Parts: sequence; C-alpha cells; structure tokens
Amino acid sequence: MDNKNKKIAFFDSGVGGLTVFSQMKKMLPNEKYLYFGDLKNSPYGEKSQDELIHISKKIFDFFASQDVKAVVMACNTTSATAYDSLKDNYPYKIYPIIQSCAKKIAQLPVKRICVFATEATVKTHAYQKYINKNNPNIEIFETACPDWVKIVEENRVFESEEQIKSDLEHAFVYNPEKFILGCTHYPFLTKVLVKYVDESKILNPAEIFVDYIIADLKKNSMLKDSPGGQEEFLVSANPQNFKHAADMFYDLKNIPQKTDLI
Ligand code: DGL
Repeated sequence: MDNKNKKIAFFDSGVGGLTVFSQMKKMLPNEKYLYFGDLKNSPYGEKSQDELIHISKKIFDFFASQDVKAVVMACNTTSATAYDSLKDNYPYKIYPIIQSCAKKIAQLPVKRICVFATEATVKTHAYQKYINKNNPNIEIFETACPDWVKIVEENRVFESEEQIKSDLEHAFVYNPEKFILGCTHYPFLTKVLVKYVDESKILNPAEIFVDYIIADLKKNSMLKDSPGGQEEFLVSANPQNFKHAADMFYDLKNIPQKTDLI
C-alpha cells in the first residue's frame, strides 16, 4: 500500500492523548487515524520504567500489525521512559512528545519554567534534560501531580479544585514564568488551572507537537493527498468511561471498541 494512505496511530493511557489528537485532526482532517487508549494499564505515571517499556512494546507491536505510517506518542510518561529503548525497532515513524517539543520550548524567552508531570516522568528528568540540551540557561523545576490523571479519567475535575489548587501552590514557590502541562491529561484541567495561574503562563505543548509532526510528515512526503478522513478508537478497558471522560475535549461519535490485544 502507498505509504501516504496508511494510518497515523496515537496512544496514551486514556483520554489524555486526545488533547493532541483533536489538534491534529483539525489540521489534517483527511488522514486515517487509529487511537488506542490503554485504560487497563492506567495510570502510567505510577508504573516502573521496565513496566512502561513492556507495555509500550506491546502497543508498538500491535501498531506494526495495523500497517501504520507513524505513531504519535501522545503520552509524556512513555516518551520519557520507553522511547529510547524501542525507537529503532519498528518500520514506522515514531514521534515522542517531549523530545519533539523540547527545542521549541528551549527558545522561549524565559529563565524559569515549572513542568507539571507524572511521577514516572519527573523521575527521568526528561524535560530538564531535553530543554537544557538546547538551552542550558533555563532553570527547570519538575513537579509531580500524582492525582491529576485519575481526576481527569474519573471526570472529577470540578470537585477536585482544592486538591489541584494545593498542588499548584507547591509550584508557586519557584516563581516560574511558564508552567508546562507535561502530561497530556492536564489540559483537561485548564478551566480550574486558569483560576489560579495567568493563562498566558500556561503552556500546553500539544500545538508545538502537532506542528512538529506535520512539518516532518510533509518533509518526508508522507501526508495523505486524497480526500476522505477516517478515525478508529480502541481501548484496552472501560470503553464507556473513555467516551464519558473524552467529552470535554473530543466529541466521539461512538463508544470505542474494547480490544484484548494489549
Ligand atoms: N497522559 C500521559 C502522559 O502524558 C499518561 C499519564 C498517566 O497515565 O499517568 O504522561
């Protein structure tokens, strides 16, 4: 099959990756998409690096069987922990969110950045490593927000305002000029976050990420050039919850299909 007509696959532990997918779909409506939400293994942020490599390998093997042209790691946690071990073993392009966005973030005219991320991401210091590789003059503070993913998946954003506020207060001591949402679930919390942080200080890397992917696909002549987009959603557990939680970011037409492949 012509490479251009193959699918672009996305994965995340749940609905978080939709914050990237929704932007991509807007920019490239004619592509064929496959989205996998790994709710059986959610939250990823509590897992060890070995577990995350094992899980990501299974997902990458599955995508290899689905004839995809590119895999979007719409998940910071596996980009930080599993990408390096798996990146050379597959016949498709792989885009990890942190590594793809770091160069652009490093060009921001700021001196102090706070990154909110999962515990597993914070442990790797991936944001610090990749931003400072491009610009050693920015100070990076990485802060784990262990409950935020569950708050999003369980659709408890507004009931959890006090908890979110207290996590934010821990970060204020660093006095950062920018706050990066270093987990793709966190943009779901924006309505609460902007009550306590000036909106202009919050950076959701999804836009930078999507621009990067599109430029790279274009450069490699991999963009589909015929009309007629498609989308398919699969989950490893809880399809109803996925649809319910997705609502805030993406209007899913149907309840996703549950698969036992992972
Ligand atoms: N949304 C993912 C991320 O960007 C995974 C979060 C989790 O499952 O802990 O890190």
